[in-house]
Amino acid sequence: MIFLTKHYQGFKPIILLALIAPSLFWIFQFFNGKLGVNPIENLMDKMGLMALRVIILTLIISMLADIKSFKSIVILRRMIGLIAFYYVCLHFLTYIILDHFFDIKFILKDIAKRPFITFGFISFICLMPLAITSNKFSIKKLGYKIWKRIHFLIYPAAILSSLHFYMLVRANKTEPFIYIMIVCCLLLYRIFKRIIFPYLVR
Ligand code: HEM
Repeated sequence: MIFLTKHYQGFKPIILLALIAPSLFWIFQFFNGKLGVNPIENLMDKMGLMALRVIILTLIISMLADIKSFKSIVILRRMIGLIAFYYVCLHFLTYIILDHFFDIKFILKDIAKRPFITFGFISFICLMPLAITSNKFSIKKLGYKIWKRIHFLIYPAAILSSLHFYMLVRANKTEPFIYIMIVCCLLLYRIFKRIIFPYLVR
């Protein structure tokens, strides 16, 4: 097991680079006018989609960590979760700064008026305590039980952000539908593991 932990530890910088690199590439493309006719919308979409995919990757890692031979993969979860938050922040900042030039009054109205934006915003709020408490100090301070409850927020965040995607897509809803299904399956697995399984083996 120690060997495997070291094995995954060695992969950390490669995974970090591989997941961060697309954002740097898109920012480079944006500043060089290579993001098409609507660069702001394009940049926002790319960051948003990547955020959702990385959130789902974090949930998949949690599930894989339950399999004995993949247990040590859990050491990658915190880093990948924080990368998801990094993309959500870039997505949100593109919306606030580039799309609406810090027009807070308009932004608040937009969040209240358009349901898909409301869902995205609530999802962002759910992810905030997760990102803030993703460190050893918080586990110690809060206790593992409370910390674990806070980190369950990743499930509502994942559901709301896939609904956010589903609602905004007008033509082909296949991709957001697939994400909703994946998230629902992972949530059902989690509920089964936490609530039904302990009851069955009692
Ligand atoms: C966890 C948080 C969020 C995730 C995972 C997320 C994800 C996404 C995804 C996947 C898309 C569609 C990308 C595509 O069409 O390829 C998108 C679009 C969009 N998101 Fe979010 N989002 C989040 C939060 C927010 C927040 C907080 C706001 C603003 C308050 C926001 C505003 C938008 C807007 C305006 C679009 C449409 C861009 C366009 O015009 O095409 N999102 N988001």
